[in-house]
Amino acid sequence: MKSNIVLIGFMGAGKTAIGKVLAKSLNWNFIELDSLIEQRAGKSITKIFEHDGEIAFRKLEIEVTEEVYLSTDRANMVIACGGGIVLNQINIDRLKEKSRIIYLAASSAVILKRILGDGQKRPLLAIANSVLTIHELLNYRKPFYERAADIEINTSRLSINAVVKQIVKRMKQDESFNS
Ligand code: S3P
Repeated sequence: MKSNIVLIGFMGAGKTAIGKVLAKSLNWNFIELDSLIEQRAGKSITKIFEHDGEIAFRKLEIEVTEEVYLSTDRANMVIACGGGIVLNQINIDRLKEKSRIIYLAASSAVILKRILGDGQKRPLLAIANSVLTIHELLNYRKPFYERAADIEINTSRLSINAVVKQIVKRMKQDESFNS
């Protein structure tokens, strides 16, 4: 039985915001992998990229994902991942074993709007928060997200609550999911 929900998708897709509301509505726990990485490193994601580089960040991401995977037996957790979680297949293999993976898709224009609106720093987009950078990176990653996902939801025109409703509905239709 798969008793957790994992949210994947590009930066700004709403994984954290949606994950928190979803967890509350299911009365489940919410965890964010990026926060666990920051706790472990003792510094922010921005500082990890600045001081140690992306490869060091990806190593931490793999370690933390493994720990979460080991701790999630029938745990009823909503897990929000960083946008690059799909780049290492080992993360997806681990998460998939005990969780349904939901891809929160959005267009590059919507992503840009959300990123500019949330005031969060994102090292990979630091050079230029341009729609072109986002578009190129999103196009590269899209097949990774699609391959990893059990369920895909296009969030471009949906409010947070509407996305949460859709997820709950889709999960209820999913026989192998134990809620
Ligand atoms: C990243 C996304 C970020 C964070 C890091 C790398 C990525 O998380 O993990 O900056 O490679 O897409 P969010 O998707 O929550 O912004």
